Amino acid sequence: ELNEPRVVQVKTVKDPRGLLGVVEGLKEVGFDFKRFYFLTELREDSERGGHAHKRLSQCFVALRGGVTIKLEGFGKRHEFRLDSYDKALILPPGYWRELVDFDSDSLVAVLASDYYDQKDYIRNYEEFLSYSRPAPVTKVPYID
Ligand code: TYD
Repeated sequence: ELNEPRVVQVKTVKDPRGLLGVVEGLKEVGFDFKRFYFLTELREDSERGGHAHKRLSQCFVALRGGVTIKLEGFGKRHEFRLDSYDKALILPPGYWRELVDFDSDSLVAVLASDYYDQKDYIRNYEEFLSYSRPAPVTKVPYID
């Protein structure tokens, strides 16, 4: 499904000088980026996330180390282990996320579709549940 979280392959270009990895916006991951941020100096027992976004789309890449990303949204749960710089998690809006099981030396890059906006966060789980309901089943009208 189009609006489900998914992991895609990051394009890499390797030559004797080293490796170059690239993630392109709209044409590749479905949105353009306005913000880059990263997580590092993480403790192995850290738990991050614990919120959802109303409109923000994000793309996560574990440039070094690894992280497990647990997701819930629209009536479904997903879990991804990002542990290689050539994998990118594309995360549409509306998903509650928990980031757990960090490797101690991790560096996690995040590309986001918009600037930081406190008002885009849903930090209350009950509020999230009413926001991220499963999509209604479309009924085909019965024609006599
Ligand atoms: P938060 O989004 O809660 O981090 P995580 O989901 O990784 O646990 O943000 C942590 C803190 O950093 C919070 O005080 C807001 C601040 N912050 C910014 O100022 N700008 C940003 O772009 C982000 C992502 C967070």
